[in-house]
Amino acid sequence: MTAVYNFNAGPSALPKEVLQRAQAELTNFNGTGMSIMELSHRSKDYEAVHQNAIDLLKELYNIPDQYKVLFLQGGASLQFSMIPLQFLKEGTIGNYILTGSWSEKALKEAKLIGKTAIAASTKENNYQSIPTSNDFQFNKNDAYVHLTSNNTIFGTQWQDFPTINHAPLIADMSSDILSRPVDVEKFGLIYAGAQKNLGPSGVTVAIIKEDLLEVNVDQVPTVLRYKTHADSNSLYHTPPTFAIYMLNQVLTWVKEQGGVNAIQKRNEEKAKLIYDAIDESNGFYRGHAEKDARSLMNITFNLPTEDDNQKFLAKAKELGFVGLNGHRSVGGCRASTYNAVPLEACVALREYMDSYRASH
Ligand SMILES: Cc1ncc(COP(=O)(O)O)c(C=O)c1O
Repeated sequence: MTAVYNFNAGPSALPKEVLQRAQAELTNFNGTGMSIMELSHRSKDYEAVHQNAIDLLKELYNIPDQYKVLFLQGGASLQFSMIPLQFLKEGTIGNYILTGSWSEKALKEAKLIGKTAIAASTKENNYQSIPTSNDFQFNKNDAYVHLTSNNTIFGTQWQDFPTINHAPLIADMSSDILSRPVDVEKFGLIYAGAQKNLGPSGVTVAIIKEDLLEVNVDQVPTVLRYKTHADSNSLYHTPPTFAIYMLNQVLTWVKEQGGVNAIQKRNEEKAKLIYDAIDESNGFYRGHAEKDARSLMNITFNLPTEDDNQKFLAKAKELGFVGLNGHRSVGGCRASTYNAVPLEACVALREYMDSYRASH
């Protein structure tokens, strides 16, 4: 088996050490004689893993005491509905900042539930940029303001988050959670599907400020209430135990790497290799994102023609690069350089980009 360089957009690379540890204890977790998947979610062995994952995330992400960490199911996509179901009441507005397809999808779900508005959008430039604070249009009856911190498909990322005082700020951080330090206190709610930076698919993490748990949820189905999960420490029903076990392993690995600051530094180094290959190519590679909006997680670019894109991707595949094709809705090329993607993979990609350009 030859080595592969995994640049998948999600599910995506997991740290090799994490996979090896999971393999080593797959059939006998903690001396139980069983795999973690076979244990009761009410058992002490499982509960210790569950609690450790919550505590580690709080520690690594510097989450203040007045926030709860929840483990939910239904992916980030279910959050698109849970948010308006919970917070979008008669006479209020769900206000969305549109920076790509995922924020559009979040808005679409909110429209099914109540009144919405678009606080700002960069759709007119095909989502190459992030709006600036001067562009925001707020309403005094905003129930919340929603943004997507990193735009997986277009390859843009918020560099600084706005401070919003009139309503809770809610962020979909599915594709950049834990890639850099974040001031959690700016947000009422942060959510993320795990399958990029946190672990395998199957668990969705929510970080919610306690005062948002006090809203009236009488009309919301029990399992779709944040309060249900907060009150039961995310053990209201059977949680995705294996996914949470893997999340705990990934968080342990992040800590071993030196925490989120060290991870950010490495992510910057990795992304720079590929952005440099683009910037030093005399226009052969064209980045989609404007420079001041570039994502550290998803690097999107095109070659001069669609035919060139396809040839570049075909050759890359032969060389062991996986997942470099752009999302089907925008095409081109995309390298996803999430936390677990090793520096060597980015060095190899840079070398391939340079040599491909030199020979074309
Ligand atoms: C930013 C963002 N939000 C939401 C989603 C959807 O997540 P899920 O598949 O967990 O519903 C994705 C998936 O790629 C994403 O990148």
